[in-house]
Amino acid sequence: MILVTGGAGFIGSNFVNDWLAQSNEAVINLDKLTYAGNTQNLAGLEDNPSHIFVHSDIGNRELMAALLLQYQPRAVINFAAESHVDRSIHGPEDFIETNIVGTFHLLEEVRAYWNNLAGEAKQNFRFLHVSTDEVYGSLGKADPAFTETHRYEPNSPYSASKAASDHLVRAYHHTYGLPVLTTNCSNNYGPYHFPEKLIPLMIVNALAGKDLPIYGDGQQIRDWLYVTDHCSAIRRVLEAGQLGETYNVGGWNEKPNLDIVTAVCGLLDELRPRADGQSYALQVAYVTDRPGHDRRYAIDASKIERELGWKPAETFETGIRKTVQWYLDNPEWVSQVQSGAYRDWVQSHYVGAAQ
Ligand code: NAD
Ligand code: DAU
Repeated sequence: MILVTGGAGFIGSNFVNDWLAQSNEAVINLDKLTYAGNTQNLAGLEDNPSHIFVHSDIGNRELMAALLLQYQPRAVINFAAESHVDRSIHGPEDFIETNIVGTFHLLEEVRAYWNNLAGEAKQNFRFLHVSTDEVYGSLGKADPAFTETHRYEPNSPYSASKAASDHLVRAYHHTYGLPVLTTNCSNNYGPYHFPEKLIPLMIVNALAGKDLPIYGDGQQIRDWLYVTDHCSAIRRVLEAGQLGETYNVGGWNEKPNLDIVTAVCGLLDELRPRADGQSYALQVAYVTDRPGHDRRYAIDASKIERELGWKPAETFETGIRKTVQWYLDNPEWVSQVQSGAYRDWVQSHYVGAAQ
């Protein structure tokens, strides 16, 4: 049994779906169901007895302690976070609360649980913290890609809060011996990606005939990885990662934002042409830049490749085609997320259950 936090969000739900497709080992999935958490992402698991969903906050220590005691998981994988840079600029408080204070509370309960384990259960236990390449800050054009020893230099409230959580996780290993692993991944894309983030926003706006807002000059570079490749990396680190180590995860896929948007438009032109026969690229609109916008991220993934034998299965071309196709095939998911209908459902369904 493993315990996953944030497993109703974009990456967490892909991870839980993948895990249960490949393993009989049960998953306790604890999620606060913020605007970004969606039980529709887990719809295929409704009748699966190996999936135990718990609506709660990682900061709810009483409930966390009870869950750990009851289910005795062999690992905790922490995806739960506020994840959107723009939202962190508009309102950093939730980021501090969940990403820093919430991770602290989670670490405290996991430490207490682990302390009481004995023998093999204690030896084999793992706490895997899912983090981001944004903690390393921004690269110049000619700089080498981020390695695990790159200094932390976070620039947004989001990345600063993730950096703080990484440091807490590290400290719990060095001070208390908690068996931790940390992954720092580049930009993910794929199914169930909330359409506030670049790729899904461009797909849904394009199809709705709306503008495709490009911040600044559109030449900021991100390093893109298909989400199921991130999930396979996390499984591999959980299986074979060295305690206390961090692993950078990426697909060697640096691309300027404008190229990403052009690729999305090209696929939509092919798969769902505009009624007027023109390209979706005509909807591109340059808008005011994000404050403090990091110019370039790039992940050096040699360590996880060399030490753990992990490699991504998708190229950008195969991954982006699958992604665009998924959004075309799932208009109900998009409209539920946009209309907030799924949140109304959650409110009535989980009435009284929120912690
Ligand atoms: P997301 O915003 O889609 O999902 C976050 C999930 O966490 C949601 O289901 C939300 O309800 C839940 N959550 C938020 N606060 C919580 C709390 N206090 N208690 C319990 N659950 C809570 O995010 P994502 O894109 O899936 O990212 C998952 C993790 O991976 C985050 O830690 C993020 O920093 C990290 N990450 C993301 C990317 C990316 O490109 N999206 C890349 C590298 C790392
Ligand atoms: O690098 C990993 C990180 O990637 C994760 O830790 C974050 O959780 C995740 O949200 C993502 O952060 P970014 O800020 O890179 O992702 P976002 O999709 O918000 O933006 C990607 C790039 O596109 C960024 O340079 C800003 C730009 N952008 C974004 C939006 C939403 C635009 O030009 N227009 C937009 O409308």
